[in-house]
Amino acid sequence: MKRPPKLQQKRLLEMLVLAVLLSSSCIALFGFYTHRAFLSSTSPLAPRSTAFYQIQNDHLHHYNRQNLSLNAPQPAATLFPKPPPPPPPQTNAVDSVLETGPYHNWELFAADFQEMMQHLKIFVYPDIFNKSSPFANIFLPHENPLDNPKLGNYFSEHMFKVSLLHSPLLTATPEKALFFFLPFSINNLRNDPRVHSEAKISQFVAQYTSSISSSFRFWNASGGADHFYVCCHSVGREAPSKHHGLRNNAIQLTCCSSYFQRFYLSHKDVGLPQVWPRTDQTALNPPHARHRLVYFAGRVQNSQVRQQLINLWGNDTEFDIFNGSPTFPYEEGFKRSKFCLHVKGYEVNTARVSDAIHYGCIPVIISNYYDLPFSNVLDWSKFSVVINQRDIASLKTKLLSIKREVYLRMYHDLCKVRRHFFWHTTPRGYDSFYMTAYQLWLRRGTLRLSF
Ligand SMILES: *[C@@H]1O[C@H](CO)[C@@H](O)[C@H](O)[C@H]1NC(C)=O
Ligand SMILES: *[C@@H]1O[C@H](CO)[C@@H](O)[C@H](O)[C@H]1NC(C)=O
Ligand SMILES: *[C@@H]1O[C@H](CO)[C@@H](O)[C@H](O)[C@H]1NC(C)=O
Ligand SMILES: *[C@@H]1O[C@H](CO)[C@@H](O)[C@H](O)[C@H]1NC(C)=O
Repeated sequence: MKRPPKLQQKRLLEMLVLAVLLSSSCIALFGFYTHRAFLSSTSPLAPRSTAFYQIQNDHLHHYNRQNLSLNAPQPAATLFPKPPPPPPPQTNAVDSVLETGPYHNWELFAADFQEMMQHLKIFVYPDIFNKSSPFANIFLPHENPLDNPKLGNYFSEHMFKVSLLHSPLLTATPEKALFFFLPFSINNLRNDPRVHSEAKISQFVAQYTSSISSSFRFWNASGGADHFYVCCHSVGREAPSKHHGLRNNAIQLTCCSSYFQRFYLSHKDVGLPQVWPRTDQTALNPPHARHRLVYFAGRVQNSQVRQQLINLWGNDTEFDIFNGSPTFPYEEGFKRSKFCLHVKGYEVNTARVSDAIHYGCIPVIISNYYDLPFSNVLDWSKFSVVINQRDIASLKTKLLSIKREVYLRMYHDLCKVRRHFFWHTTPRGYDSFYMTAYQLWLRRGTLRLSF
């Protein structure tokens, strides 16, 4: 190219300066608009506009600092743009913090829950309908779990199955399913004399899973990652141990959700609410009618923590602590107390947490590494107290230090979460079934090989 004469060179430089000035003001405007878009975006995540804003803002910064000197070298900082300033606080920020109540983020959850109701589909393997199978007792749903107090701690396992069969999430078309349910019941395996033992249960479950993977195309398509089963019996701890894919890939909905359980994989598996069989939600005793500070009734068994509890607090006049049955009806303790203890027994799981919630008594969880149900949706700190097993000696000090207004707010939030710890034959609202289904929904998106 021909070299321009001196005068033209000067003109060129002037034009360049003008161009930069113009473009930087455009950038400033653009930055303003993207910033606005970022703020007004109703979508929880607006990655594109945020990233745009970062880049534009950084350019602006760069030009100002260089005082329009075009020859200066690019500073290294441009390669690592600074984060944008935080958006200004919204006027009602304080109110909205209070309004979140027992949820991490109610709006996000409710919107995603609606998505789930439209798109989640679950296929159940046909054994659940086969009355002529020799193992029908393992696979068929319980005829009437609601009126069966004998199911006790294992009620949730049966109710999940019954609710699923009555729910619109069920599909008979496996190609439409996001998840596949293996319908064996650990509780029924335990009660079947042909199986019964922990070792035989895991053998049965492994054989069944292998038969599913050879008779249907769906298991192999994901290695079992979109398959799940339910287990509310502590004897089911070892259930997946003899099948690699069942243990590592399939999702376990379980009442024994402890981070230290050998076959519980946190973030993959799901804590199931453990609920005692009951048909109605009783009216709650209000806070002012709760005269006792603490309630616990249960067998000490082989639990060190419970033993400590009895030793330290068994005779305290403000505590109602019983080794075994109380001197009054069991549920009376939940009704007349402010705080109800869930103290680890042999395992983390008992129905005491949902008992407390059901009767409006703030649960105090003394059970280290219990992966509490729905904790990615519910902020347990708003309606329960979690105490390290080590700190059991300061239990009373800790509970007495909770101010009355804080307790009242916890009680209020507890009332809001009650509905999540309740099963219906035909599931509805945000009950235990749909809350559990939502946990599956959060684990969707498994890439499948073609069926
Ligand atoms: C920026 O430009 C102005 C006007 O040309 C000049 O007075 C000032 O000294 C410059 N600042 C720097 C840091 O170069
Ligand atoms: C039910 O189970 C029996 C025995 O395992 C089997 O022979 C039969 O094919 C099954 N029926 C259906 C419809 O799957
Ligand atoms: C799935 O994979 C297993 C192990 O590789 C194989 O035995 C089985 O036949 C496969 N299932 C189907 C339906 O092809
Ligand atoms: C509690 O009281 C009973 C009866 O008075 C007594 O036998 C027991 O040793 C006391 N326990 C503790 C831990 O102080």
